[in-house]
This record gives sequence, structure tokens and C-alpha cells, in this order.
Amino acid sequence: MQAVVFAGIETMRVEDQGMPELQAPTDALLKVTTAAICGSDLHMYEGRTGLRPGQVVGHEIMGVNESVGDAVASIRPGDRVVLPFNIGCGFCRDCHRGDTNMCLTMNQEKPHAAYGYAGMGPYSGGQAEYVRVPHADFNCLKLPGEPFDAWEDDFILLADVFPTGYHGAVLAQVKPGKSVAVFGAGPVGLMAALSSWIRGAAEVYCVDFIPERLEKARELGAIPVNVRDGDPVEQIRERRRKSSGFTAGLRPGEAGKLSGVDCVIDAVGYQARSHRNYQQESPTQVLEDAVRLANPAGALGIVGVYMAPDPGGRDEAARQGSFVLPLAQIFDKALSIGLGQCPVKRYNEALRDLIVAGRVHPGSIVSHRIPIAQAPDAYRKFDRRSDGYTKVVIRFDQLRAA
Ligand SMILES: NC(=O)c1ccc[n+]([C@@H]2O[C@H](COP(=O)([O-])OP(=O)(O)OC[C@H]3O[C@@H](n4cnc5c(N)ncnc54)[C@H](O)[C@@H]3O)[C@@H](O)[C@H]2O)c1
Ligand SMILES: [Zn+2]
Ligand SMILES: [Zn+2]
Repeated sequence: MQAVVFAGIETMRVEDQGMPELQAPTDALLKVTTAAICGSDLHMYEGRTGLRPGQVVGHEIMGVNESVGDAVASIRPGDRVVLPFNIGCGFCRDCHRGDTNMCLTMNQEKPHAAYGYAGMGPYSGGQAEYVRVPHADFNCLKLPGEPFDAWEDDFILLADVFPTGYHGAVLAQVKPGKSVAVFGAGPVGLMAALSSWIRGAAEVYCVDFIPERLEKARELGAIPVNVRDGDPVEQIRERRRKSSGFTAGLRPGEAGKLSGVDCVIDAVGYQARSHRNYQQESPTQVLEDAVRLANPAGALGIVGVYMAPDPGGRDEAARQGSFVLPLAQIFDKALSIGLGQCPVKRYNEALRDLIVAGRVHPGSIVSHRIPIAQAPDAYRKFDRRSDGYTKVVIRFDQLRAA
């Protein structure tokens, strides 16, 4: 079968690999219909993880079950399913509590396991024609419809970026009436903006440097803020101060203190770019902006990844993932902070049902549908965030890829 393999820094290759096999009676074998390329894959692609060449990558996976082990009770061959990128056992303490991002069983090295990812256990990735699914009863989310129907682009986003954006909104404590700023208009940021609406936000800003991505944010109803037009924190404060609806509803003295937002979502992570120069990384740029922008008693939801070891960090502290943060300001404002990998299974069923009911259409952010042969080139373009490459999906249906 064909699969996308990490072949070295900035090199992905499509190679022939042996077919995966059932290894336990609780496994399933999935015939992949769509697999997506994630911003997280780019950390590996750029050599910012310790990944060794030869790994089949891909953790955003959906398809149709080809076969199931003898102990699989609820999933049958022919069932259409999407997989959470985290692999859970379903029975450990953390899975039991819904913290499937911290499964204690599936990775010998540390809590959390995923398909095709550095440091996340021995699981082969799903940017491939077939993938083995451990604990299939627990990890498969059943989907209605037929492969490649109008829901295909929506459902593939249930593997990761839609639940992850939603998790960002939960961690940032987005509730009805709240003001929200999302840093990053990549797939995760766009899904965080959509999720903020689902959770009842009154106002959503979306910050990035890339016009096509900010345009997607606007289409989703967010107010785009381009960092190239000046300090994004000041842009948002200025806009809020000038809004008569906002100021007229406040008591004397409040406007100056509340011109920020209640909820800030970091959908960028440790490869954040500096305000002044997009080519230059500034790992704490978004965190510093978030702390400055948050209103007193506000909350930060950090789903952009901060990862160590980072072979590309600019100094030893950065290589170990240690950064200086404005802690006194965080304390002074009494900000709440939530962060980490998304427990996809906590949200994917509810978000699926919003899609099926026609309430949301997350697949509108998919910019490119490609056959697997074009994956190496798509990695290059997505990595440059060029040519409108916002969300790329690999379709295992040559005729329909376009
Ligand atoms: N927590 C999780 O479970 C989880 C899951 C999936 C992805 N992620 C992480 O989320 C992050 C975003 O991933 P993505 O798939 O959306 O792709 P992405 O990396 O393409 O998106 C990041 C966006 O941030 C923008 N950006 C860079 N610096 C910025 C700054 N200073 N201010 C505002 N915007 C800035 C970039 O232009 C880009 O559009 C990555 O770190 C990824 O690893 C986390
Ligand atoms: Zn991902
Ligand atoms: Zn577990």
C-alpha cells in the first residue's frame, strides 16, 4: 500500500509499505478514505521533533472498516468511522475520566499516544491506504452517509482540528456573551473561532499575518486582525474602545480596564512568528500578547503546541521548552490558564451531531483535496503557508481528488 513517510528534514516521500495487520482481537483495520495534513505534522517535517526517518505519518484519519478482530463488538466491516488522533485504551484511570489525551496505557514512554507522531508511541500513521486501529470499539466514531459524500470534508476535521479548536474555547472559558480573541487563523484557529460561536460568544477576533486565512476567518463571522497592520493587541483594544455599543454599556472607569477580551485562545504555539518579521520565530510572542490582551479575571486557552525536546530551539532553554513568561501580570490580572493536547473523544460525538444536523459546516476551511502522490509537494506549500494552502486533505479516491 502507498503511505506518506518522513524521509528527513523537509522531505516527505510516498512509499510502498506492507499492509498493516490486526495485532490484537480488539483491533480493526481501516481502509482510509481521507487523511488530513495537520499543522502538527509540520513540526516533524521541519525537524523540530526528534523523529527518525522512516515513520509513516498522519493522525487525522477517516475511512471504512475493512476487518475487525474477534473481540470487537460494536464496529462491523463496512462501517464508516473517524478516529480521534489520540489513541485511548478506554479502561485506564485517565480514559475513564474522559482524559483520553492522557491515556496511561497506550504509550510506554509517557501519557498520550497518537498515530504517526514523534514520541506518541509505536503507531503507524494514517496518511496511508490502510491503518491499524487499536481498541476499535473505543476509538472509532461511527459516521452516517457514504464515503466521499458532502460530509467527507466536515467529518475528517472531527479527527483533530475541530475538537481541538473547541477544546481551546472550553479552556478559554468561552460562554454566552463573552468576547474572544483567537491567535492563529490556521485550521485550529479557524475551528476555535467557529467553536466560540457554538459556545455563544458575542464577539470573536482572529489574528494572523496571512490574508487568505484571515479571509476564511471573516467568512466564519470573526473580525480579522492582520499583525502586519500593527500590534494586534492595540488593534483589538482600539476597535473595542471605539465601539459605542461596548462603551455605552459600561460604568465610569470600566472602559479602560475592559478594552481587552475575556477569552484568548492560542492556536499558534511555540513556532509563533515575531510581530516585526514573519520569517523570525518568537516562541512567547502569542503568550505575551494573550496576557496583555486578556481582561482582568479572563482566561487563556492554549492549544497551540509547546514541545520539547526541540532540536531547532534557538538556545538550550528553548531546546528544553523553557520560556520566560510575565507571571506577575498573569497573577495581577488573576488569569486562568488551560492548556494541552485535546481529548478528542470528549467532543467528537457532539460536534458530529452538529454537522449532521446542518448547524455547522467546518469543511468549508478545506482548501485542497489531493491524491497521495501530491502529498510531498503539499507539505512544502502548506509549510510555507503559501498559495492559499490552509487545510489539505489527501483523498484515496483518485477520480475525485481535485
Ligand atoms: N493541542 C492539540 O491537541 C493540537 C492539535 C492540533 C494542532 N495543534 C497545534 O496547533 C497549532 C496550529 O496548528 P494548525 O493546524 O492550525 O496550523 P498552522 O501551524 O498552519 O497555523 C498556525 C497559524 O498561526 C499563524 N501565526 C504565526 N505566528 C503568529 C502570531 N504571532 N500571531 C498570530 N498568528 C500567528 C500562522 O501564520 C499560521 O496561520 C500548531 O502548534 C499545532 O501543532 C495542537
Ligand atoms: Zn493534528
Ligand atoms: Zn487509557
